[in-house]
Amino acid sequence: MDVYEAIKNRRSIRRYKDEEVPKSVLKKCVNAARLSPSGANKQPLKFITVTEKLETVFEHTNWAGYLDWDPTEEEMPRAYIAIIKKIDTGLKTDAGIAANNICLTALNEGIGSCILGAIDKEELEEILPVPNNYELELMVALGYPAEDPQVIESEEKVEYYHKNGQLHVPKRPLDKVWIER
Ligand SMILES: Cc1cc2nc3c(=O)[nH]c(=O)nc-3n(C[C@H](O)[C@H](O)[C@H](O)COP(=O)(O)O)c2cc1C
Repeated sequence: MDVYEAIKNRRSIRRYKDEEVPKSVLKKCVNAARLSPSGANKQPLKFITVTEKLETVFEHTNWAGYLDWDPTEEEMPRAYIAIIKKIDTGLKTDAGIAANNICLTALNEGIGSCILGAIDKEELEEILPVPNNYELELMVALGYPAEDPQVIESEEKVEYYHKNGQLHVPKRPLDKVWIER
């Protein structure tokens, strides 16, 4: 898939099919994260893939803050990649960049994703094998998509919403964010 097309097509997916994410895809995602840009090339991140006890992780995630809605257990992610960072090393922004590389790599394999920042960090750090000198930055949820969100152009509105069962995601129009001089 062309990179620009992938960037345009990627949407956060919050409903997933009951189908496993192949280990080969998780490996590609972690490799794409490993190769991400890194401030001062400190490379402070490690990546934990999770494919078992998914319900336990799901309990400590929070979804679609603008909606009075959560995915059901049937719709929950079929894998996660936890992005952990060595404490006091490198830049926090590295995690976001790596997360997006994961999302785009997954999309190219037909897998949907959602970056999760609203997570119960302390609880997840207990559940996941996070080394002592590392902290959890972000989770990326993964799975085959069971929804097809749609972008709508909107200058002011940022809150996404369901319409006829489909998620509508406002994005600011190009001419409202592009400043030329
Ligand atoms: C750093 C970060 C944290 C996010 N955390 C969550 C989250 O905890 N739960 C969730 O449902 N979506 C989360 N999202 C997804 C955003 O809500 C989503 O990117 C936004 O609504 C735009 O939709 P799009 O990704 O489909 O373009 C997060 C996105 C980013 C970049």
